Amino acid sequence: MCGIVGYVGHRQALDVVLGGLRRMEYRGYDSAGVAVLDGAGSLTVERKAGRLANLESALDTTGRDAFTGTAGMGHTRWATHGAPVDRNSHPHRDSSDRVAVVHNGIIENFAALRAELEAAGVELTSDTDTETTAHLIARAFDEGDTKGDLAASVRTVCRRLEGAFTLVVTHADQPDLIVAARRSSPLVVGVGEGETFVASDVAAFIEHTREAVELGQDQLVVIDRDGYVVTDFDGEPAQGKPFTVDWDLSAAEKGGHEYFMLKEIEEQPDALANTLRGHFESGRIVLDEQRIADQDLRDVDKVFVVACGSAYHSGLVAKYAIEHWCRLPVEVELASEFRYRDPVLDRDTLVVAVSQSGETADTLEAVRHARTQKARVLAVCNTNGAQIPRESDAVLYTHAGPEIGVASTKAFLAQIAANYLVGLALAQARGTKYPDEVAREFSELEAMPAAVHKVLSTVEQVRDLGRRMADSKAVLFLGRHVGFPVALEGALKLKELAYMHAEGFAAGELKHGPIALIEEGLPVVVVMPSPKGRAVLHAKLVSNISEIQARGARTIVIAEEGDDTVRPFADELVEVPAVPTLLQPLVSTVPLQVLAAEIARTRGYDVDKPRNLAKSVTVE
Ligand code: G6P
Repeated sequence: MCGIVGYVGHRQALDVVLGGLRRMEYRGYDSAGVAVLDGAGSLTVERKAGRLANLESALDTTGRDAFTGTAGMGHTRWATHGAPVDRNSHPHRDSSDRVAVVHNGIIENFAALRAELEAAGVELTSDTDTETTAHLIARAFDEGDTKGDLAASVRTVCRRLEGAFTLVVTHADQPDLIVAARRSSPLVVGVGEGETFVASDVAAFIEHTREAVELGQDQLVVIDRDGYVVTDFDGEPAQGKPFTVDWDLSAAEKGGHEYFMLKEIEEQPDALANTLRGHFESGRIVLDEQRIADQDLRDVDKVFVVACGSAYHSGLVAKYAIEHWCRLPVEVELASEFRYRDPVLDRDTLVVAVSQSGETADTLEAVRHARTQKARVLAVCNTNGAQIPRESDAVLYTHAGPEIGVASTKAFLAQIAANYLVGLALAQARGTKYPDEVAREFSELEAMPAAVHKVLSTVEQVRDLGRRMADSKAVLFLGRHVGFPVALEGALKLKELAYMHAEGFAAGELKHGPIALIEEGLPVVVVMPSPKGRAVLHAKLVSNISEIQARGARTIVIAEEGDDTVRPFADELVEVPAVPTLLQPLVSTVPLQVLAAEIARTRGYDVDKPRNLAKSVTVE
């Protein structure tokens, strides 16, 4: 939550920062702001509540010429402390307007810091936790050992802060450098020719450089146009971890699509292929990083998958496969519930933490809790070097590429594939599958990009259906077996994007309550199992559909090609390719993504930036 960017170099900082913010807006869009420092140490700030477009209009009114300078910073906010109004927007400044700060995270002891500042006569002008840091840094810069040294001043203040934060700080008296610091919130450095960047995510500077450096926990970086220097919060030299970004600007742009989500839906075959690539070598499943001994993997006797949102649904799908392949009990748990429940964990427990961003606060805390209980943690993550993989014992990266639409699509499909690889790796380690069986399962997974590509041929049919459903008040989703989590995911997509009441149910539960919701014309989306692969469940679902149709429901059926039995009961039929049962979610989810996006678009909503949401939820 909250996107930040900082720049020191040879270009106009305002242009670089605004370019970065355009690609950081997925992290929050309650307000946006910029600060630019000119070489003479004059600090110019503009900030506006609402989307980045509001800030850009304000800049047009003020005149962009006022923002001349080659060092600057920007922020796009998801409000935590203080309403989304201009005065709570970042950057925040100290009383003398020499320090500017942008912040991502929550400073948990801000009330005490605020009281201390007020007692010292400082007048605070916002309701935010962030503003306290600007005043504290300014005071440190003016006094004692840290006098005149911005990096030392920021370090002193960071040592006093509790909570999670990334801070980017400038001081008018040191206009050639920017200081940034992190604890538990993301921060990467971009290293260009005669210019250096800091940001929440590499997308902010990818058009200028692909050379990046990831910072560790409690580290601080000073950037100037010649490069960067990393220390810890005590000032001891430290090392960042350099890496080269393996995608380019086009991956972070719409590329002619009306919105990112539709582009990302269409990228799903590639996301799957890239996630599988390189993970089956010499007849064995291989992870990206493995700091768990083979013997310990063999000894695993219980698996927890912990995650939030769509990532949680990917875990629900994986449970069916992992239990089936590994003969291990698998519990799938919302990360926000997990650590407050005293789960039974020990060194033979494997906790699989699934997170696109790798920075979701609840998932990160679940990882930390699991590790204190001696469980092994394996991260499935889409973001290189994010905090969750850093704190895990093993890592499998999904290579879905940058996902900008707030609602997860290609990352979700990639998570399912990666979770399956985890299941196969476990089956291989435990010997519950012979090598040729693992090879066969992997080759079935390898056929999935083509199958998903085929489903994309239904996009226009489903968009048309979405336009016709846009007036609905509510939609129910039904599924069984692996189709149940697909139903949950379909309902979640509709809630987040179209602000419509939507619920997913296990079809077997229909008569235990949900059937009471059925009324004339209510759309019910049914995810059908294969008539061949799951004949018994298929027959039961056909009965369910006829029951709800008899009570007036409008049935929208996602079924395997050639499934003629279900056709008479489908008011609308969307056909997906026949694939092995466990892999069916990879094809049946796709029409539900398109449906939600099109209903949202028809209702006039911003598909990529649904209200109140942010892509990375870095606060609890
Ligand atoms: C937010 C996003 C969802 C995502 C969830 C978990 O709610 O809007 O799309 O599934 O966070 O995020 P993660 O980065 O941990 O996968």
